[in-house]
Amino acid sequence: MQRWPDRRILDLLAIELPILQAPMAGASGSAMAIAVGNAGGLGALPCAMLDATQADHEVAAFRAACSAPLNLNFFCHTPPLADPERAERWKQALRGYYTELGADFDAPTPVSNRRPFDETSCLLVEALRPEVVSFHFGLPEPALLQRVKACGAKVLSSATTVAEAVWLQAHGCDAIIAMGYEAGGHRGMFLHHDITSQIGTLALVPQVVDAVKVPVIAAGGIGDHRGLMAALALGASAVQIGTAYLFCPEAKVSAAHCQALRSASAADTALTNLFTGRPARGISTRLMRELGPMSPLAPAFPLAGGALMPLRAISEPQGSSDFSNLWAGQGLRVCQELPAQTLTRQIAEKALAALAC
Ligand SMILES: Cc1cc2nc3c(=O)[nH]c(=O)nc-3n(C[C@H](O)[C@H](O)[C@H](O)COP(=O)(O)O)c2cc1C
Repeated sequence: MQRWPDRRILDLLAIELPILQAPMAGASGSAMAIAVGNAGGLGALPCAMLDATQADHEVAAFRAACSAPLNLNFFCHTPPLADPERAERWKQALRGYYTELGADFDAPTPVSNRRPFDETSCLLVEALRPEVVSFHFGLPEPALLQRVKACGAKVLSSATTVAEAVWLQAHGCDAIIAMGYEAGGHRGMFLHHDITSQIGTLALVPQVVDAVKVPVIAAGGIGDHRGLMAALALGASAVQIGTAYLFCPEAKVSAAHCQALRSASAADTALTNLFTGRPARGISTRLMRELGPMSPLAPAFPLAGGALMPLRAISEPQGSSDFSNLWAGQGLRVCQELPAQTLTRQIAEKALAALAC
């Protein structure tokens, strides 16, 4: 395929189509990355919930099945200090659910973990040599970032505001993912913690394009060729798509999540901090409705999830998603249930055909 109006991302990342598969920790792995890479897009492996051995296996599976470039994705949060009082207030807020489900309230609270990018992750990147490394929640400390760049990897990160985009460019990003309010999963916000600072893709992308020199990748609410064309019209060089890939057979989503994706409407998603402590967009669940989706009681990322683990361990085997995160973006009703390779090529082919008219 040729004739893309803007080749900046295609040339930078050595890919054929201006479509990046969003890394989705817990919901996508090598099968998805292989399918998207073989279609000509950029496949991604989210590493935030993998240990080094798991990441190694996933990269080996990708390399065995696909010769396209690969994006390894990491979180860049600062691990929080222990705050026993806040943890206790949060657990007390959940006491009624423990009683209802017969969970042991007095047992030690499990620790919910999401790895930030650190020395171990950096050694992994140095060993595995991904062509692209993307970050969420900012960038790692300069010395680590320098080592990533010294491996030859192109560096991407998410910006949710113009100020974050300018910051990322100044700190060495090769391209910026402009993540609109519609997007599923965790907001990549790192300079601001106030969700009123968050704006939609249509408003964010052109303002980021105007403010930075590096190419911009639009994300949030894009699920078909119309979204891709709109993003290109706004000045983006490519798109990053998450929610639409959750509908593909390669996605690693629970039966309950899959069912919720099929039946939810765009209005059924909300930003919530209840599941991890950071704002993320997901389909509303009973917990979100009863506690309110944003709560000052939720401990800092990623600790909020710990006290929910015993509730999920009981409710999920019963087919309930009352206490589970069902990450999804507002574009979920434009998505189709297709294999990821077919979906990727179809979005590109339809957009190219329409652009040629
Ligand atoms: C289930 C799910 C998990 C996600 N996990 C990650 C992640 O691990 N790392 C990351 O950089 N972004 C993650 N995101 C955000 C995506 O990278 C992307 O910005 C977002 O999906 C784009 O919006 P869309 O869902 O409307 O397509 C996740 C999104 C979803 C839906």
